[in-house]
Amino acid sequence: MCGIVGYTGSRQALPLVLEGLRRLEYRGYDSAGIAVLDGAGGLKIAKKAGVLANLDGHLGSGSLALAGRAGIGHTRWATHGGPTDRNAHPHTGGSGKVAVVHNGIIENFAALRADLESAGTRMRSDTDTEVVAHLLAAAYRDGPTAGDLPACMAAVCRKLEGAFTLVAAHADVPSVLVAARRNSPLVVGVGEGEMFVASDVSAFIAHTRDAIELGQDQLVVITPDSAEITSFAAAEPDFKRFRVDWDVAAAEKGGFSTFMEKEIFEQPVAVERTLLGHFDGSGVVLDEQRLGVRELRTVDKVYVVACGTAYHSGLVAKYAIEHWTRLPVEVELASEFRYRDPVLGRDTLVVAISQSGETADTLEAVRYARRQRARVLAVCNTNGSQIPRESDAVLYTRAGPEVGVAATKTFLAQVTANYLVGLALAQARGTKSRGEVAWEYAALSRMPEAVAATLTVMGPVRDLARELAHSPAVLFLGRHVGYPVALEGALKLKELAYMHAEGFAAGELKHGPIALIENGLPVVVTMPSPKSRPILHSKMLSNIREIQARGARTIVVAEEFDDTVAPFADYLIELPRVPALFQPLVAAIPMQIIAAEIARSRGYDIDKPRNLAKSVTVE
Ligand code: F6R
Repeated sequence: MCGIVGYTGSRQALPLVLEGLRRLEYRGYDSAGIAVLDGAGGLKIAKKAGVLANLDGHLGSGSLALAGRAGIGHTRWATHGGPTDRNAHPHTGGSGKVAVVHNGIIENFAALRADLESAGTRMRSDTDTEVVAHLLAAAYRDGPTAGDLPACMAAVCRKLEGAFTLVAAHADVPSVLVAARRNSPLVVGVGEGEMFVASDVSAFIAHTRDAIELGQDQLVVITPDSAEITSFAAAEPDFKRFRVDWDVAAAEKGGFSTFMEKEIFEQPVAVERTLLGHFDGSGVVLDEQRLGVRELRTVDKVYVVACGTAYHSGLVAKYAIEHWTRLPVEVELASEFRYRDPVLGRDTLVVAISQSGETADTLEAVRYARRQRARVLAVCNTNGSQIPRESDAVLYTRAGPEVGVAATKTFLAQVTANYLVGLALAQARGTKSRGEVAWEYAALSRMPEAVAATLTVMGPVRDLARELAHSPAVLFLGRHVGYPVALEGALKLKELAYMHAEGFAAGELKHGPIALIENGLPVVVTMPSPKSRPILHSKMLSNIREIQARGARTIVVAEEFDDTVAPFADYLIELPRVPALFQPLVAAIPMQIIAAEIARSRGYDIDKPRNLAKSVTVE
């Protein structure tokens, strides 16, 4: 997690690095720090625990002291060592001439640290990163490649185990930055007479859209006019040049007070763009689909692996894929998948869903699946990230950058992409005729409209949410595709409002959780459609009666014109009527609004919930 950025060019580095950090702050906000090379053999550092604003405040009018045309910066999600000033990056080595920022975990740091300490090095922090700074300083001072920063960095990287993106600056080479990566992301931004390195393109998108994404075990040396990529392991460098297809406006708040709010309102477009170009008049087509129709036809089992919100989108996929293809689908938490010996083979399709494309648990699940010879299809929002790179095929969700830490528009985009996977499989296997696939796709194409219509009726839901802000807990119930919606509603509330929340399959309530119901407890119930799911609908009405009889305050999310439900709803939220399988695309929206609004009423920062980071690159 952690965000890192580096700049070298003709402009002052400090404001550009700080701007980059502001855009990367979603990756972690336990501390922030910056190092600037002053061009005269000096290296100046400022760092502060807490959010980036603390560093800004700390710099205050003293920012002139950090003048220089090359610099590196870091925004931290703490792993080794608490979120303190002393553990904030950059870390320095040797006599303070070399500074390093790091994203990831150096797994063998304890042994390396012990070696350094027994050789007399005094550690100044509790981090794994500081070890790298000392190793680099020592190699530069008197190793076999002394005085050659890239060669020293390569030698140090070869000693490291785990996941890392590193950027190093040395006072002796003031316009040069050296960066390296393994299992963590790193992109280069190629400007006019200036270069950037960063964890993701949003850090430099205001200055250049030309980028290079580094492959595994690669190292880049940037100067204002060049970016030279080599490999620090045996492999050939395999980098990828690309042009970012969104602009700085997409990474700004665009008039909304928070990124999350803006992203909630971008959902109709996220769904529309995810569908775009995936139907060619005769059938569903998937991009970068390196799995042919023949391979899809032989699939005999589908596993979906993902974490958190992406996992919930996978639960929705199960209902659609099983219904359309008659294939068995298992949905697994990526963190559990490879530890329980799942039965996989050449004809197993593993669908790995990840917004960031860098979630360590999902990445390891992908690697495990490929080792077992299964075929892996990634559903991902981040172009060229590690999970799609290591998969057999990829279907990109085109939701655009999501900065709010809680996933919103990417959830809807994932659900949409999963439907496309289901339809492509059904088409290849012939379980749905071309006409049926075309019909489903047409219905899906109308969903952006339904999502937009849902957003227009959320005003009263906000008022309701403010009333719920003082409840001790909220429960969420659903059946069928409403069950993952309930889980997602509870997750959003936990992560944003720090409130106890649970999602249940409504039928399961009577097997235990109903004991939780007490007078006034809010329970949010997603109703199945009375027309297309009449049996489930009537069972759900019974469930509502059961909880109402025990004092629950029922908040019912139902399809418009569902007259049967009103008598049982203490509060009714009406949604546009949509095909039953597609209901999560509209029903998730009130869940997002309720969580965001309760969190706001409780005075929390909804873009940066405590203890969380956007990309979870540790297992
Ligand atoms: C919740 C949330 C997380 C992510 C999870 C997976 O709002 O954002 O639960 O969904 O960490 O992340 P990705 O999709 O990047 O693999």
